[in-house]
Amino acid sequence: MGDAVSRDKGAKHKAAEEIAELRRQIAEHDYRYYVLDDPVMSDAEYDKLFRRLQQLEAEFPELVTPDSPTQRVGGQVSSAFRSVPHTRPVLSLANAFSDQELRAFDRRAREISGAAELDYVVEPKIDGLSIILRYENGRLALGLTRGDGLSGEDVTSNVRTIGSVPLVLRDTPEGAPEYLEVRGEVFLPKEDFKQLNEEREQNGLPLFANPRNAAAGSLRQMDPKVTASRPLRALFYEIRDIRGALPVPDDETACLELLKTLGFPVPVYHHCKSIGEVIDTISSWQESRHTLPYDIDGMVVKVQKLGIARALGATGHSPRSQIAFKFPSEQVETKVKDIIVQVGRTGVLTPIAMLEPVVVSGSVVSRASLHNEDLVREKDIRIGDTVILQKAGDIIPEVVAVLPERRTGEEREFAMPDGCPSCGSPVVRLPDEVAHRCVNISCPAQIKERLIHFCSRDAMDMRGLGPAIIESLLQSGLIKDAGDIYSLRQEDIAKLPGMGAKSARNLIRSIEVSKSRPLHKLLYAFGIRHVGVRTAELISRHLQSLDEIRDATEEGLMAIEEVGPETAKAVVMFFRQDSVKQMIDKLRKAGVEAALGVQTYEDQAGPLSGKTLVLTGTLSGMTRHEATEHIERLGGKVSSSVSRNTFALVVGSSPGSKLDRARELGVRILTEEEFLDLVHGRSSVDED
Ligand code: IVH
Repeated sequence: MGDAVSRDKGAKHKAAEEIAELRRQIAEHDYRYYVLDDPVMSDAEYDKLFRRLQQLEAEFPELVTPDSPTQRVGGQVSSAFRSVPHTRPVLSLANAFSDQELRAFDRRAREISGAAELDYVVEPKIDGLSIILRYENGRLALGLTRGDGLSGEDVTSNVRTIGSVPLVLRDTPEGAPEYLEVRGEVFLPKEDFKQLNEEREQNGLPLFANPRNAAAGSLRQMDPKVTASRPLRALFYEIRDIRGALPVPDDETACLELLKTLGFPVPVYHHCKSIGEVIDTISSWQESRHTLPYDIDGMVVKVQKLGIARALGATGHSPRSQIAFKFPSEQVETKVKDIIVQVGRTGVLTPIAMLEPVVVSGSVVSRASLHNEDLVREKDIRIGDTVILQKAGDIIPEVVAVLPERRTGEEREFAMPDGCPSCGSPVVRLPDEVAHRCVNISCPAQIKERLIHFCSRDAMDMRGLGPAIIESLLQSGLIKDAGDIYSLRQEDIAKLPGMGAKSARNLIRSIEVSKSRPLHKLLYAFGIRHVGVRTAELISRHLQSLDEIRDATEEGLMAIEEVGPETAKAVVMFFRQDSVKQMIDKLRKAGVEAALGVQTYEDQAGPLSGKTLVLTGTLSGMTRHEATEHIERLGGKVSSSVSRNTFALVVGSSPGSKLDRARELGVRILTEEEFLDLVHGRSSVDED
């Protein structure tokens, strides 16, 4: 018996030794891979070590520690992120948009510090999310988001899953920090972002607008396993605090080198001896920025000497020793091969420039909306012209200007056609409008766009019923209007190109589910002019049933707050049409609840139902009105003052005293980013 126990002890001891060695080898590989970018082990060898470690830990679960690399796969699901105060404010950076502004920044820094010349470090400005990590006795103890700069959310379990985040610090020849706090950026490499979105598209999930949003959505996941499945990366650029028996670096480059020695991947950096050198470095990066595997939106310039940086201090939001140079949108030349006309759901004709494909801000662009005929005239864009193209907000392709000197005489002016390109009906332009419209409400192009709108997410939300399927349903004559969707049979759908029994079954199910959408969704789905999500809600809340809305007069409608004469007229005209009456009959027969009057308006049961939110400060990506709409769409209410009953305070820049009040009362604080995540369903609203 005693022998068996000591044999077991011996086995455990041996396992512990092997486990330690495996972890050391794996950490060494991670370091070479993520920090030095110089791996020496093949993936197969690495996997073998990893599997052996997993096997030993399965045999001896008592030997598993949180900093074992096997623990990166993601632990417990949590219901909310704990808010943790930062040890000192997490600042952001002031921006510069021109060389002059960089020179002014340098001049001011020299004046205040009294230095004749300053040297700087220049690094890419990674377009991701700030992350603050704390290490205690060499081990990762806490990972926080920036939050509002004063406190952040505890995302430790998620941070742990990121391969490039060291779980244990490496020793330096000069000693080890007892306490270390670093700041860096979490991001999703461009290629991985593309792949992630492709997968999401295939699975019918909403797409992320850009890598930054994808990274934010991935890091703020309640289930760390989801985070672990996303190939997030991190780079570190700042030591916020370091304590222990080792020399404290006194310049930026020494900080970056120390970070590397400790096991952190750092961005490429350049040490520049003057502001002139800084400007040259930035301009060469501006050219080559797309060669980096991740998105950058500028370059960060930092005073090299930390002593001087400290003396310069900070304004409320940003240090005077650092500045972000923001790249202007990249502009490229291309040729307008043709200008075609697209017909929207309300009959509006939009000219679209068909371009010779070019890469701009990292993706291939072959078409750009020219909005309307007046704009084409104003910019004098002709077919055959060479033009300058950019992406507005780095996302939407836009023709900035024409290069008239490149004309050959072969160019052709564009004119709106007299007849609709889809149905040939007359095209009219109302006196007070910039838009041209096709007047035929049975125009096939309009019908298709209306159907796409009817099924879309904010409308009847029929998952899986996208533009391509709608197109083939129309072509095969299976549907003519939205009412027909509800009499589709599984066997008909299954016969469509690219559809099988399973996808047909799923489609029928999502059509069925959509029958119980509330009245305001149905009203919005009709795609009546001027009736957006919010107006549809207001009207439904007041009139309570489809019959009442159908029978309402213009005056009756205008009595509703925010409904103006044009909207009222559009609604009345809409319900007068015979085709609309027929469509509504079909909806009734099919049992669409809102059409039957089963569904009256109730405060929408959404993720924010019964919750009151307050807004403060300026939001950068939306107006107050839009923010309010988002909240109400999710079932919440907006109030102007913070109380104990406030569910959350949404904080923009330059927040007012509401922020102090919220802190006092312990009310949850959401940054604009976090609010957007909520709005787009990338995070949930479980209470602390
Ligand atoms: S230094 C005091 N360096 O850009 C600010 N920031 O507003 C210290 N960022 O919130 C930041 N790359 O999230 C610094 N190489 C870099 C950066 C970087 C990206 C982000 C950071 C910050 C924002 C600037």
